Amino acid sequence: MAEVSRVGMLTGGGDAPGLNGVIRAVAMKCIEDYGYEVVGLKRGWKALLEPESDTVMPLGLDDVRYILQEGGTILGSSRTNPYKNEGDPEKVVKQMEEFGVDALVAIGGDDTLGVAKRLHEDFGTQIIGCPKTIDNDLSATDTTFGFDTAVSIATDAIDKLRTTAKSHERILVVEVMGRHAGWITWGAGLASAANVTLIPEVEPDLDEITEIFKKRAENGEKWGLIAVSEGVTFSEDFVTQNAEKDEFGHVRLGGVAEGLAGEIKERTGIDTRHVVLGHLQRGGTPTANDRILSTRYGLRAAEAVKNGEWGKMVALRGNDIVTVDLSEATDETKTVPDNLYQDLRTFFG
Ligand code: F6P
Repeated sequence: MAEVSRVGMLTGGGDAPGLNGVIRAVAMKCIEDYGYEVVGLKRGWKALLEPESDTVMPLGLDDVRYILQEGGTILGSSRTNPYKNEGDPEKVVKQMEEFGVDALVAIGGDDTLGVAKRLHEDFGTQIIGCPKTIDNDLSATDTTFGFDTAVSIATDAIDKLRTTAKSHERILVVEVMGRHAGWITWGAGLASAANVTLIPEVEPDLDEITEIFKKRAENGEKWGLIAVSEGVTFSEDFVTQNAEKDEFGHVRLGGVAEGLAGEIKERTGIDTRHVVLGHLQRGGTPTANDRILSTRYGLRAAEAVKNGEWGKMVALRGNDIVTVDLSEATDETKTVPDNLYQDLRTFFG
């Protein structure tokens, strides 16, 4: 193992409240306890493929001490994929050497961690992963930071929408983030007592939904709230904003709430509108839980650097932060189990 003196950190993919908590904890532990120098590499993997004059960002104690409550990431992010073009992975490794970075903490979701895993396997790169996603869909960890904040924001939004839905006797269909896994929608639908919650894991039954709202109207409640994940499909295909794909091949989702609102309006005769929560769910200050979790991840990631646990990722298991193989992290998408969805169905109507 090559000796470590300079630790680099990068954040990739969609941002999540709590990223700065990880950055702060990694930097403070590495500097104060281990005497390493710490630098940020700005804009995810782009830092190592297309470096710019400001790519390397020194991270001293004064740079990170007060960033815990800040949303977003002070390092910026991108969806750059170093494995998209031949020869790029080699460039990444060479650039790391040129930056004098001997160990890298890569903070991201399955795409970013997938790259980290391959760099470690292909070149022996000294990498530690840290899981991040508001979607909470990584299988190797009990939960990810950013999720709690996203659920709180979506819950608050649905609570607010209830008052106006009632006043105007409307059904409001609220689109919540979640591509293959409906965790945020499930959490917010439950916490806000939405009348119907739809997640990508379960095919929606339009007849059943129509009946629910017709029955409510007969009982004098000509209004209601539907929480729907952006990844819910009605005919196998995602509803997308356009055909554009990012570098990891993901299409841009959006539009399912609008389509569903039109359908419900036609079927029930009740005025129905839609609201897309979108990036609001990723913005702003992290909840206390996400600050705590991200800090714990960061501290353990710094420890993993010290121990030379290369190719591992920090993960929450029960009450403990442990390390697991990066391959485990990227193996499968953690979806909402059916029993949890059935629990939620008790409150439909
Ligand atoms: O991965 C998190 C996520 O928030 C998904 O739920 C969503 O589909 C995607 O990011 C959108 O991200 P962006 O608009 O930044 O590409």
